[in-house]
Amino acid sequence: MTDILRDLDALRAGFREKLAQESDEASLRALKAELLGKKGELTALLRGMASVPAEQRKAVGEAVNAAREAIELLFTERLAALQAAERARELSGSPLDLTMPARPVPRGHRHPVMQVKDEILDIFKQLGFQISWGPEVEFEANNFEKLAFPPDHPATDMQDTFWVDVAGGPSNLRTLLRTHTSPVQVREMTSHSPPLAIVSGGAVYRRDDDVTHSPMFHQVEGFYVARNVSFAELKGVLTAFVHRLYGDDVPVRFRPSYFPFVEPGAEVDVGCVFCSDADGTREACRVCKGTGFLEVLGCGMIHPEVFRHCRIDPEIYTGFAFGLGVERVAMLRYGIPDIRLLFENDPRFLEQF
Ligand code: FA5
Repeated sequence: MTDILRDLDALRAGFREKLAQESDEASLRALKAELLGKKGELTALLRGMASVPAEQRKAVGEAVNAAREAIELLFTERLAALQAAERARELSGSPLDLTMPARPVPRGHRHPVMQVKDEILDIFKQLGFQISWGPEVEFEANNFEKLAFPPDHPATDMQDTFWVDVAGGPSNLRTLLRTHTSPVQVREMTSHSPPLAIVSGGAVYRRDDDVTHSPMFHQVEGFYVARNVSFAELKGVLTAFVHRLYGDDVPVRFRPSYFPFVEPGAEVDVGCVFCSDADGTREACRVCKGTGFLEVLGCGMIHPEVFRHCRIDPEIYTGFAFGLGVERVAMLRYGIPDIRLLFENDPRFLEQF
C-alpha cells in the first residue's frame, strides 16, 4: 500500500471521530473545510500523487475520490442530524422568547395647546360653567353684527379676516373663519334662556404674525348671564381662575379696554415670567415689551345691544363675558418665548411637555 492510501484511511477515520464531537452547524462546516477545502488536508495529500508510480495512479485516484465521497456523506448525515435536533429543540421549547427586549413604540401625547385648553376648561367647570361648542366657519352676522360691531369696524376689514365661500351655503349670508370665539355667546344666548354659565374653546383665525401673535390660535370664551350679575363677579371669577392656573402669588391686573360687545370692557394682564425687574432684564424683554405684564384675555359686561340681538331682555338680565388666548396662557405657563414654536411641530420641542 502506498503512503497516500494509508494517509487516506487515517484521514477518514480521524474525520469520523472529530465529526461525532461537533455539536453545531458552524463548527461542522469549519471541520469539513479543514479537510476538503482548497487548503484542506485532502488537497495537500493529492499533491503527493506525483510520486505515485504510474501503474498505481488509477487505483490511488479512485481511493481519493472514494474517501472524498465518504467524507461528504458523513458530513451530510451529521449536518441533517444536527439540524433535526435543533428543529426538535425549537418545537419543544416555549413558542415565545419572553426575554427578548420589546421593539420600542414611540408614544405621542396631546399637543401642549390642547393640554392647556383642557386645563382651562376644567377650571371653569369646577367654577360651575358648562362646556359648549361653536363652528370655526361662522356667519358674518354671528361673528360681527350680532356682537354689535359697527359695519365699518376695522376688525371686519378684508385685510383682517379670512372670508370663506361655502359650497351650497346660503348666498345671502357671508361666512368667514371666525376671528374670535365670541359668536358662541350669540349661538347659546339665541337658543337657550338664562341663567347661563358657559365656556367654549377652539381655533380662531386672524391676519396676525409675530412672537405673540399667530394667524391661527385658540381661544376660550366664557360668559355668565343671570339676574343681577355685576362686574364684581366678573373680577372674582377671573381672579380665581388666574390664581388656580398660575398660583396665588401671580400678579393680575384689570385694565379698561374697549370691545363693541361689552360695556364696560377690560383686559386682564398676568405678570410676565420671562423677565424680572430685580435682574434688569425687564426693559429688553421682547415678550412683554418691558411692561412686566402679558395680556391674556378680554372681558366685560355683556352689552344690552347683544342681549337684544339674542332676544334676551337687558332690563331683566345682566351678564359678563371673557375671551382668552390659550397660546398666551401656555407661553406664560411653560416659559415659551415665541408663539410660533407651538406650531412648528418640532418633536424636540413638543416632547418637553
Ligand atoms: C377678543 O377676541 C374678544 N372676543 C375677547 C372678549 C370676549 C372680550 C368676551 C370681551 C368679552 P382680543 O382680540 O383681545 O379679544 O383677543 C383675546 C385674547 O386672544 C388676547 O388677550 C390674546 O391673549 C389672544 N390673542 C389675540 N390675538 C392673538 C393672536 N394673533 N395670536 C395669539 N393669541 C392672540
